Amino acid sequence: MLNFKFSIPTEVFFGKGQLKVVAEQVRRHGGTRALICYGSGRVKQQGIYDAVCAKLAEKGISFCELGGIEPNPRIKSVRDGVKIVKSHDIDFIIAIGGGSVIDCAKGIAVGARYDGDPWDLYLRKGEVTGALPLGVVLTLAATGSEMNGTSVVSNLETKQKLPIRMPFLKPRFSVLDPVYTYTVPPRHTAAGTVDIMSHVYEQYFSTVSGTFVQDRLAEALLKTCVAYGPVALREPENYEARANLLWAGTLALNELLTYGKTGDWGTHMIEHALSAHYDVTHGVGLAILFPAWMEFTLEKQTCDKFHALAVNLWGVAAGADRMAVAREGIARTRAFFSSLGMPTQLREVGVPEEALPAIAKTTVEFGEVGVYRKLDEKMVLEILKRAY
Ligand code: NZQ
Ligand code: ZN
Repeated sequence: MLNFKFSIPTEVFFGKGQLKVVAEQVRRHGGTRALICYGSGRVKQQGIYDAVCAKLAEKGISFCELGGIEPNPRIKSVRDGVKIVKSHDIDFIIAIGGGSVIDCAKGIAVGARYDGDPWDLYLRKGEVTGALPLGVVLTLAATGSEMNGTSVVSNLETKQKLPIRMPFLKPRFSVLDPVYTYTVPPRHTAAGTVDIMSHVYEQYFSTVSGTFVQDRLAEALLKTCVAYGPVALREPENYEARANLLWAGTLALNELLTYGKTGDWGTHMIEHALSAHYDVTHGVGLAILFPAWMEFTLEKQTCDKFHALAVNLWGVAAGADRMAVAREGIARTRAFFSSLGMPTQLREVGVPEEALPAIAKTTVEFGEVGVYRKLDEKMVLEILKRAY
């Protein structure tokens, strides 16, 4: 295990009725003029938006809004938000929604502290040392953005979808009320479950050994998804299922699993390139790509980790043929994603075969991706072909 400093500053308010803390938390972090970010009008129909506004007004916090933030959020929305922040002297950002709204809000928060175009920051061209404080009301179990410092934003003109990771982008607080996730439609419940599992896989497959505690925590989160993903699909208003998925999603990508080790993240980089070209839902892309990455990566030297996953997660009997056990674990992963209603091949989501080389090229535009398995353009293309 590697050395690490454990620090997760986001305060989480979990459970029914926790929305009541929003205004006092904004105040606590010095907010007096807030920008409320959201996606479609859904949060207004559900009453979440009005409830937040009422609490802010009670505390004398003024606010304005940025609605219409897209799934796979665009840099244009970030730019629009930065303009509002600068013209209204905003000092706190509130995101109500899933990962897309939160990531866009983070882009606005950091863009507000930068004089140039915020896209520079995603291209690693500009420098910033801080961001406006941010609070979150989460409505979808998936990305972990509610407790991490990552923002992923797309630029449709350049066909790029790029992440930034900055510790000061971690939200000051996040409200996680599982009841708000009752309305998540089946497709996004499934895609979110796949995304959570993919985050765990990205950290489970590590070049650092001796991380027993991280690995068992990882398996517990995977088991939670396997147990409760199907329940949430069958019974969208099952509190226990929604609560367990929501907390698993947060724990899967708040750095808990990565302290003391390295992750891989190659499959995420391929998926981001795929989404940049074809606007595929993140979890859907991962459901197709992860089993293909696993098949590509499984070999004698990597067999132990795949074997452990097969036995500990899927309950495959630990037979003498370790490679066969490992392969069975990968097959179970694909079958599970498929049982959630996810597609298993790129051709099913409208990607033409002739586009695969361009997606591979975009994936490695800043160099090789992946740590557990370093991937160059040729290898990425091979994975894409397997996934086709
Ligand atoms: O526009 P709204 O109304 O918010 O609708 C959303 C959207 O259409 C809807 N939804 C959310 N909560 C709902 C709901 N519908 C009904 N009831 C609710 N309670 O679901 C759709 C998808 O929402 P989105 O926010 O796009 O999903 P998700 O949370 O999966 O976020 C995906 C984005 O996050 C990025 C992805 O690449 C993608 O752009 N990621 C961010 C990460 C991070 N910041 O750490 C890491 C991830 O690996 C990922 O890359
Ligand atoms: Zn993800």
